[in-house]
Amino acid sequence: MTPPAIALRPTTLADVALLAALHAEGPDEPWSTDAFARLLVLPGTVGRIAVVTTAQRNEPAGFVLARSAGGEAEILTINVARARRRQGIGLALMRAVVAADLHDATRLVLEVAAGNAPAQALYRAIGFAPVGRRIGYYGRADGSREDALIMAVALGAECANDSRIAQSTITCPKG
Ligand SMILES: CC(C)(COP(=O)(O)OP(=O)(O)OC[C@H]1O[C@@H](n2cnc3c(N)ncnc32)[C@H](O)[C@@H]1OP(=O)(O)O)[C@@H](O)C(=O)NCCC(=O)NCCS
Repeated sequence: MTPPAIALRPTTLADVALLAALHAEGPDEPWSTDAFARLLVLPGTVGRIAVVTTAQRNEPAGFVLARSAGGEAEILTINVARARRRQGIGLALMRAVVAADLHDATRLVLEVAAGNAPAQALYRAIGFAPVGRRIGYYGRADGSREDALIMAVALGAECANDSRIAQSTITCPKG
């Protein structure tokens, strides 16, 4: 299948219903529109929406939210519409975050469920490596608990010096 044409644009407060709907297609507990609104107005929040463009219409197909604070940036959530997965959209969103102004953060971190193989594969594909584990971090609707892996990738000058990143598809932002 030919990869779709993807345009990326920043998130705005007008997008909260769209973000909640896309997030609800993922495995985690749903987040309310209010929760998204609160995140979007926090200082240091960076959001990008991927829009698949065809001759007929523009289809919002995924988004990522990250936040930088204290020299470190964190992926808060990334979600791609179920029907649009495995078409390069997640990769485009992660690249957009790495290229964004993250206020001199030197490390990008995230938490991912230990059983979420697709997300871990995406993160590894762009240079993230596991740096820790939180036991029983996620509570599931059936009462069970699942560990979180903590994954990280270097940014800025550290990024340019990291041989793992040189072999990945990450373009290091200017340090
Ligand atoms: C994780 C997620 C964002 C990936 O988005 P995506 O647009 O499907 O990812 P891409 O098509 O850009 O994939 C890029 C690479 O990641 C890896 N990957 C992505 N999905 C994969 C899967 N299901 N199985 C194996 N590898 C996968 C592959 O290396 C892939 O490259 P390839 O297709 O050339 O082999 C998407 O599956 C999703 O929204 N899941 C639900 C929400 C979620 O789990 N978010 C993460 C919470 S921490």
